[in-house]
Amino acid sequence: PARRLMPSDLAARKGGDPIVCLTAYTTPVARIADRHCDLVLVGDSVGMVLHGLPSTLGVSVEMMVMHGAAVNRGLDRALMVVDMPFGSYEAGPEQAFAAAARIMRETGAGAVKLEGGVAMAPTIAFLVARGIPVMAHVGLTPQAVNTLGGYRVQGRGADADRVRADARAVAEAGAFAVVLEKVSEPLAAALTAELAIPTIGIGASAACDGQVLVIDDMLGMFTDFRPRFVRRYAELGAAAEEAVAAYAADVRARRFPAAEHVFAETGGAR
Ligand code: KIV
Ligand code: NA
Repeated sequence: PARRLMPSDLAARKGGDPIVCLTAYTTPVARIADRHCDLVLVGDSVGMVLHGLPSTLGVSVEMMVMHGAAVNRGLDRALMVVDMPFGSYEAGPEQAFAAAARIMRETGAGAVKLEGGVAMAPTIAFLVARGIPVMAHVGLTPQAVNTLGGYRVQGRGADADRVRADARAVAEAGAFAVVLEKVSEPLAAALTAELAIPTIGIGASAACDGQVLVIDDMLGMFTDFRPRFVRRYAELGAAAEEAVAAYAADVRARRFPAAEHVFAETGGAR
């Protein structure tokens, strides 16, 4: 079987071929992503995408472990990174280590991801020194929506200094890559040139060393949520709506099940 990519393999691709990343939350979707992506992220976006939560703040370690283990069963080659959920790491390095170790042990993840820059740098260094590769995440950090005051673009004007300090701090602390979320394009391009680790953009810049999207967003599973930074490669939500409507009409008209779907008194038993 193919060898699984490791954080060091992706870090070595700084400045090279773009690193392709997508989220996944289930085994069958992970199998598809594995055939095309270098990194599969079990994002805490799972809370909003699959569990109907209003933000990522309600996501638990248990949810991340369950989805992480499911995704890992679908992967042969891609690196799996699992998000640390809100409240599982911010109190300090030792809290973070306990949660990260559990996530690594119970999911088979090759790395964890956590949100935050300067404030989280000591925690990142603590984890990396103890065998846990960390992907950082700066710019728009959705777990901080209440202090950021919404999901606006980050790093414009004087705010660039804050985002730059965060990105430099996580690189210095030993993160093997950093997600730049909704960071203005010129700043994302500049940070990609300045940092020695790969930048993974989402709503950032084509100049980043890689890109990530939430898979349900790019598959068009939703009709109401259409952020500017997502390109919709399919309209699966509309296709599912049509299929469910056709099934309901067929049941009401007794067109389903048809002869080929039912079992006669004699003949095939399956
Ligand atoms: O939770 C998530 O899906 C993420 C990506 C959008 C980077 O953190
Ligand atoms: Na996330």
